Amino acid sequence: MARPVLKWVGGKRRLIEEIIRLFPSDYPERTYHEPFFGGGALFFHLEPIRGSINDVNKRLINFYRVLRDNPDELIEIASKYTYEKDEYYRLRDRFNEGPLEDVEDAAILLYLNKTGFNGLYRVNSKGEYNVPFGKYKSPRIVDVKRIQLASSILKKIEINSERFYSVAKYAKKGDIVYFDPPYLPVSDTSDFTAYSRAGFGYDDHMLLKDTCVELHEKGVLFVQSNSHVQPILDLYEAIDGFRVETVQMNRSINSNASKRGEVNEVLITNMPESC
Ligand SMILES: C[S@@+](CC[C@H](N)C(=O)[O-])C[C@H]1O[C@@H](n2cnc3c(N)ncnc32)[C@H](O)[C@@H]1O
Repeated sequence: MARPVLKWVGGKRRLIEEIIRLFPSDYPERTYHEPFFGGGALFFHLEPIRGSINDVNKRLINFYRVLRDNPDELIEIASKYTYEKDEYYRLRDRFNEGPLEDVEDAAILLYLNKTGFNGLYRVNSKGEYNVPFGKYKSPRIVDVKRIQLASSILKKIEINSERFYSVAKYAKKGDIVYFDPPYLPVSDTSDFTAYSRAGFGYDDHMLLKDTCVELHEKGVLFVQSNSHVQPILDLYEAIDGFRVETVQMNRSINSNASKRGEVNEVLITNMPESC
């Protein structure tokens, strides 16, 4: 089974089984689309035979195109980088100064992802990547097998960098779409939207709801994960053919869960229950 190549905030590994449980049993034969790709945890788990992936983050999407089309050069370049503080800041500056050849851009993104603090992708108001050096014992920057496997899976996949709603152009009746948007924050302090320069607010969630309705009318099957907050429940609960399931998250005793941004999540879907 393939694994994500990048670490990504909001990665959905822990929800994978819950999501697949909603899919029809013939899902491996269906075309699959993932418009908020990030690290693509579900995608790599599924290893779809055809479909599309998308993310608004253009450098992230450049990374996946290079991973698909030019994995050997990606491995060669990234293998030269060493895990040292000076090297980290030198490469971070180079990444921010840009523009770079696509393959070098992708190799540095991989390096920063593996050696930066917490594998965050964060940019400042000027669009500069500003994550500090991360402290690890001996981070594995280039996992050759993982890169090669991910590359082979991506060979059959269309890779786009557009807004999420463009999936309505690509998805056809019977296809499956998984939406994993930046969650609507639970409180003012939880910063779920710091993925990329543009935030993702309530208006975007309304647009996402319209996209789900459009797909439903076309006979496309979808699952969306989101936070269990009233505005999201209000958007979806009354729609014919949709259902909202709550997923309980693990919480440790005696801690303030909402401060850590850990909340229950919901899965919104139009998959028939008997699937
Ligand atoms: C929660 S993360 C997805 C995590 C992913 N499921 C994983 O397993 O790693 C949300 C992603 O949506 C992207 N994004 C934000 N706004 C978007 C938009 N309007 N259209 C498409 N992608 C967007 C972000 O760049 C981010 O990578």
